[in-house]
Amino acid sequence: MIKQLRKLAGAALRRVQSVALYRVAGRRLLGYRVSIHEATDTDRLALHQWFNPKGDPATALHRNPRITDFVAYCYGHLAGFVQLVRYSPEQSPYRGYWLFSLAVKSPYKGAGIGEQLTGEVIAKARGEGQTKLDLLVYNNNVPAIQLYRKLGFAMHFIPELEPQLAAEGADSGRRRVVMRKLLNGPQ
Ligand SMILES: CC(C)(COP(=O)(O)OP(=O)(O)OC[C@H]1O[C@@H](n2cnc3c(N)ncnc32)[C@H](O)[C@@H]1OP(=O)(O)O)[C@@H](O)C(=O)NCCC(=O)NCCS
Repeated sequence: MIKQLRKLAGAALRRVQSVALYRVAGRRLLGYRVSIHEATDTDRLALHQWFNPKGDPATALHRNPRITDFVAYCYGHLAGFVQLVRYSPEQSPYRGYWLFSLAVKSPYKGAGIGEQLTGEVIAKARGEGQTKLDLLVYNNNVPAIQLYRKLGFAMHFIPELEPQLAAEGADSGRRRVVMRKLLNGPQ
């Protein structure tokens, strides 16, 4: 019963969060309480609790110099996460800088946190002299695609990646697509 009520409440919340006016209000109410920074070890443990609560916390502290993790806090609570991943040319078909793992916790969605986290990744990639930033998104993920379009990403085709994405789509029934933002244009 409680599970069903939770499910209903979640669905209702998702519905209101899809209303643009709710997001305007959300930004007014919560936006100024949001802070974003690169993840510290304390943040990594909190992220581990969020994404992998049953896993070994020691793994949370492993760092990869090619990855920068950003966290968002709202009223002191961990509210969102995103990664900037730097691929070397040998890691084709993933080349250059990619945004991965953008996620905002349900109660905080619609308050501009996803947009701010994505903005951090864009700024970091630009600051490191990159001319493009890529990402993968499910082709039916309307909120994420709208967000990325708003920030200047457009659908993009990487021929070497297509067989992998097509096979994944055929297996799972969910197709991911690439979006790219060119970073040498206006900010
Ligand atoms: C996608 C996601 C990160 C958006 O984060 P968010 O903090 O709720 O988004 P924001 O409040 O920053 O909204 C920024 C823009 O995104 C778009 N957007 C956000 N939620 C939306 C929704 N429910 N419906 C349509 N567009 C939406 C809008 O363009 C919005 O700008 P606007 O308010 O001026 O119209 C969040 O919904 C999420 O965590 N989803 C689950 C994980 C996921 O899908 N990640 C993407 C992986 S590629």
